[in-house]
Amino acid sequence: MIVLGIETSCDETAVGLIKGRKVLANVVSSQTAHIQFGGVVPELAARNHISVIQPLTKLALDVARIDLRAVDLICATRGPGLIGSLLVGRSYAHSLAIALGKPFLGVNHLEGHIYALQTKSQGLNYPCLVLIVSGGHTELILIEKEFQYQTIARTADDACGEAFDKVAKIIGLPYPGGPYLERCAQTGCAGRIRFPVPRPKRFSFSYSGLKTAVLYYTREHRHYNPNDVAASFQEAAIDHLVDVTRQALTRVSVRQLGLVGGVSANRRLRDRFSKLANDFSIEILIPDLPFCMDNGVMIALAGAARYLAFGPVKKYLDVIARESLDNIP
Ligand code: KG4
Ligand code: ZN
Repeated sequence: MIVLGIETSCDETAVGLIKGRKVLANVVSSQTAHIQFGGVVPELAARNHISVIQPLTKLALDVARIDLRAVDLICATRGPGLIGSLLVGRSYAHSLAIALGKPFLGVNHLEGHIYALQTKSQGLNYPCLVLIVSGGHTELILIEKEFQYQTIARTADDACGEAFDKVAKIIGLPYPGGPYLERCAQTGCAGRIRFPVPRPKRFSFSYSGLKTAVLYYTREHRHYNPNDVAASFQEAAIDHLVDVTRQALTRVSVRQLGLVGGVSANRRLRDRFSKLANDFSIEILIPDLPFCMDNGVMIALAGAARYLAFGPVKKYLDVIARESLDNIP
């Protein structure tokens, strides 16, 4: 089965094509219009998706060397995300499906991130514990069996990627700051500044205190070294992810530990999670870099899984700003 996946939940227009679990094409256009504003402007994002979605889909078909009529199923992200942006991808994909007489399926973005793990040769093996760390989400999900999600910890305030972006902004790096901050951290000394590792009372994540600690430090030390700040913040932020996940692993019995979402591109985080899985003698699963960020392949993989399990009974035509994995109807 050949599946086309379209992702437009935020500021990346992305198209993926798969055949089974094999990736035929994965093309992404990252919008640069938001850099000058230091964050995503929803109206601009939607307009930009409109201008690139058609040529990008054509590019994906060219890369895969297939004709549009060879596609068996068309999927698009239904949410969570920016409504205007989601509507562009959903409407384009659904129109294509109607014109071609093919089935259409709307896909939950977080489920997409989890299915990015199917690009690894081992694939998902249940029960597993997956940490989703992106610009909008920090969620620890227990998956007992396919489609059965239980969110066991989520952030009480900022998402981890959001904290990376805000701290990057504080030390003068461009948006989105996560990858730039990681680069600075490589030449900084993580032990030089002791930022507090978050310790929320409830079993959850929290990043606003750590972000504020960085802000105060930079105000009080006018000649601070940005690389040391980046390295010290990154270490505290990752310590927190590892602490909470370690606690969860002592309570549940799983075969695999998965790490997904934009922040999973971070080298230090990947290393720390590999070590954590090793401590519990379980398999670690982290997507290769192109499948950590928002992409169309993950949407195609998740859509294909639902289509194969449930058929075309539910199209998920509506777009939604929020939807927890536990509540997918
Ligand atoms: O999953 P994603 O592409 O989009 C969302 O669904 O949010 O994640 C984007 C987030 C941004 O906050 C970005 O700064 C962060 O992932 N990110 C990173 C790295 N690469 C991307 N954060 C830390 N280190 C990185 N290497
Ligand atoms: Zn995402």
